[in-house]
Amino acid sequence: MNFTFSSQSLTTVNADAIVVPVYEDASVSPAAAEVDNICGGLIRTLIDEGDCKGKVGSTLWLPLNNAPWKRLLIVGAGKSEECNDATLRKVLTATIKILKESTAKSALFCLGDITIPGRNTEWLGAFASETLESGMYQFTELKSKQPEPAALTNIIVHTQEGQEAAMTHALTQGAAIARGAATAKTLANLPGNICTPTYLADKAEQLATEYPCLKTQVLDEAQMEQLGMGSLLAVAQGSEQPATLVVVSYQGAAPDSQPHVLVGKGITFDTGGISLKPGEAMDEMKFDMCGAASVLGTLQAIAEIQPKLNVVGIIACAENMPGGRAIKPGDIVKSLSGQTIEILNTDAEGRLVLCDALTYAERFNPASVVDIATLTGACVIALGAHATGLLANDDALADELLSAGQLAGDRAWRLPLWDEYQSQLDSNFADMQNIGGRPGGTITAACFLSRFAKNFKWAHLDIAGTAWNSGKEKGATGRPVPLLTRYLLNKA
Ligand code: BES
Ligand code: MN
Ligand code: ZN
Repeated sequence: MNFTFSSQSLTTVNADAIVVPVYEDASVSPAAAEVDNICGGLIRTLIDEGDCKGKVGSTLWLPLNNAPWKRLLIVGAGKSEECNDATLRKVLTATIKILKESTAKSALFCLGDITIPGRNTEWLGAFASETLESGMYQFTELKSKQPEPAALTNIIVHTQEGQEAAMTHALTQGAAIARGAATAKTLANLPGNICTPTYLADKAEQLATEYPCLKTQVLDEAQMEQLGMGSLLAVAQGSEQPATLVVVSYQGAAPDSQPHVLVGKGITFDTGGISLKPGEAMDEMKFDMCGAASVLGTLQAIAEIQPKLNVVGIIACAENMPGGRAIKPGDIVKSLSGQTIEILNTDAEGRLVLCDALTYAERFNPASVVDIATLTGACVIALGAHATGLLANDDALADELLSAGQLAGDRAWRLPLWDEYQSQLDSNFADMQNIGGRPGGTITAACFLSRFAKNFKWAHLDIAGTAWNSGKEKGATGRPVPLLTRYLLNKA
């Protein structure tokens, strides 16, 4: 999708469709009034007749005659004084749903009719392009019949005010974030028999070919063995699929500028291993690489936007299977850090791959390290599907991530990482065990990781509840690509 900005008089902007938000309180906002004038009072009449009530996300799709636009899409925006990020998202989602199924090639979106307290025009622009572009996403690669591609290729975002350069920049940023999220969604939606650790490594290499500002390095099992990544390799040993550790780096600042490191959990399928999971909804464990997918998606967005900072993405990829060589409960492994781990549950494998990747992150002399993982079912119980769990050893870093999430409409919520929880990981036989019992499961998982993150500012994002939708709308969400990209852009 191509996004452009216009602040010219609406009537001078031709398009196949014009999209006008209308409020519940029957007030006609500036753009709506202008359109109304040209269309002989059409909007006013619809409101007066009660055919247009302005309920959030409701739509009316009408042909126009003798206007610069072929069609009019009226979208309900609710009560004007209650407009917030969530209402705007509903307005945009309803809009793109209609537009992408129509034959309109271009659409003019009257964003100037929307005001949200605390949000400036550029924020609205970035949010709009991101949400509209996201609404175009579909995953049809594995259907034998491909649907017709949508006709819509151009969206003109209109506001009365707004600086051309700043708005164009905002629109580009939003669209880049959505495209990064789309990459993450597609990788995650691909099934485990296609998206293997090797596939993720290939994808990372492909990204580096597409974007010359990215560089990719792939470590194979032999190299990891050499380094001493006994914990990561232990997870992969029950599978026919070899593990990979992939480093993607983006250089946008001086080489000596400390990079911001992202570490993603890339379990391409999590059966639980010998501590086998129950069968119900086990297919969803193909999404257990959403952390890794979000790292690649974020690096893609960063490569498109090209901010002035250095970023390193590390993805730890393996398949967790109950093979003949698989790890068993009670097995003790030695991590890259030298610390030994008693594996009491082979289903707590995410932390086992992440701990070695975190230790590996040290060699990049990071300004900060953020890991992203579908780590615990407990996080789904604690926060549901709306907030990502956030735990950190640094308050400033935690706050930066929280506010990036607020800005991006991709929110996180912090949980405590108090020392009192650490003793749940005490082991009689090794330096630690890999599970801490049911109480505070998300916290003890983060406590485990914190033992490998002592030498840098570190935060952990548990995306078990937010990375994908279950049920009828089953599919990856692309989260937290918006949060991560916003966080990094704020750092530049
Ligand atoms: N990938 C799962 C976590 C998960 C489960 C995410 C369900 C989303 C939905 C992770 O590897 C796992 O199995 N965690 C265990 C940890 C436990 C054994 C301490 C869990 O949460 O049950
Ligand atoms: Mn597991
Ligand atoms: Zn897992």
